[in-house]
Amino acid sequence: MRPFAERTLNVKPSPTLTLDAEVKAMKARGERIVNLGVGEPDFETPDHIKEAAVKAIRDGFTRYTPSEGILELREAISRKFKEDNGLDYGPEDIVVTNGGKQALYNVMQVLFGPGDEVIIPAPYWVTYPPQALLAGATPVFVATRESDGYVLKPEALEKALTPRTRGIVINSPSNPTGMVYRREDLLALAPVIERSGIWVISDDIYEILVYDGREFVNFPMACPGLKDQCIVCHGVSKTYSMTGWRIGFLAAPRPVAKAVAMIQSQMTSNPCSISQKAGLAALIGPREPVERMREAFDSRRRLVLRLLQDMPGFRTPEPAGAFYVFPDIRGLLGRELGGRVIDSSDSLASVFLKECGVATVPGSGFGAEGSIRFSYAASEAELVEGLERIARILAGGAGDLRSS
Ligand SMILES: Cc1ncc(COP(=O)(O)O)c(C=O)c1O
Repeated sequence: MRPFAERTLNVKPSPTLTLDAEVKAMKARGERIVNLGVGEPDFETPDHIKEAAVKAIRDGFTRYTPSEGILELREAISRKFKEDNGLDYGPEDIVVTNGGKQALYNVMQVLFGPGDEVIIPAPYWVTYPPQALLAGATPVFVATRESDGYVLKPEALEKALTPRTRGIVINSPSNPTGMVYRREDLLALAPVIERSGIWVISDDIYEILVYDGREFVNFPMACPGLKDQCIVCHGVSKTYSMTGWRIGFLAAPRPVAKAVAMIQSQMTSNPCSISQKAGLAALIGPREPVERMREAFDSRRRLVLRLLQDMPGFRTPEPAGAFYVFPDIRGLLGRELGGRVIDSSDSLASVFLKECGVATVPGSGFGAEGSIRFSYAASEAELVEGLERIARILAGGAGDLRSS
């Protein structure tokens, strides 16, 4: 076969989506898998949102829309930014995309190119590096420390800067650590960001999922004077349990928003018209379903932390957001489990999947070897069963309840 374009050689498939496909195939073969690897809410999309989509179909709202998304939805997003975040973005500064992922992809395409460097604090969401590479840019990883709550420190940012640095991605609450930036953490970064003039891409997709009374703050909220250096990427996927609907959005300085809409017009034309109506219903509808989901996630978080606390070999920092815990598993390295010597997060996740039927995601994919990600976007019964299976294998027994 003739060679492919070089960009496809630099990019690997998403490890989380690959795992999800493997888990679904195992389930289809009749295996009793507990999926703690998945990054999507397990709740139904609320009924009033589904109804809005049905109505859109019945009303014949089934044609192309403006590339940047329908005005009504952009107005609702503009109100959301004003009311929730105190940020002034007009509908012209907003673009609706096919999921939060495409918002990030579009921004990287617009802002970065060959020779540019993009700073990605590690641990990071698996998709940022390939998206930077697909733009022709170079991801530059900057390690953060668990002892700092996985917050990027200004000295570390300063050290990573070169004349080629064009941007940084900040994700809070974070996938995979569940860490949440405080206002003072962002303020501390501001002088370096201002001096260097780099773009800040704020990935706010888990905004609503913060616990223990913690406040959500993104970079433009903390540093309004630097708003023109910021692009806020967001979406309805996690907030309203709408991962399959593929509605994301971004708010940016107007020329950036215009360029994003232009690129999108040549790529996907527009997000699905029906999903846009559903997204609108989500944004203008009642908040109670969202608050109920948040409370359920919070009680699962506490359950998982309690269960993990008693497990030998795990050291689990307490996350304040999202729906992940990210324990340090280095205490298990060198141990024999399920007939294998554990030498990495990959081998541990593989034993958990093959021997216990529990899917988790190894830290290696997040730039954090030595940790493993558990998602608690699963029912309490599944969380208890999955962690019991793991506790059994760690205690030297058979982890697999399928055989008991
Ligand atoms: C940190 C982060 N950002 C963005 C997204 C994209 O969400 P979606 O494209 O489903 O809206 C995800 C999804 O897993 C995520 O974890």
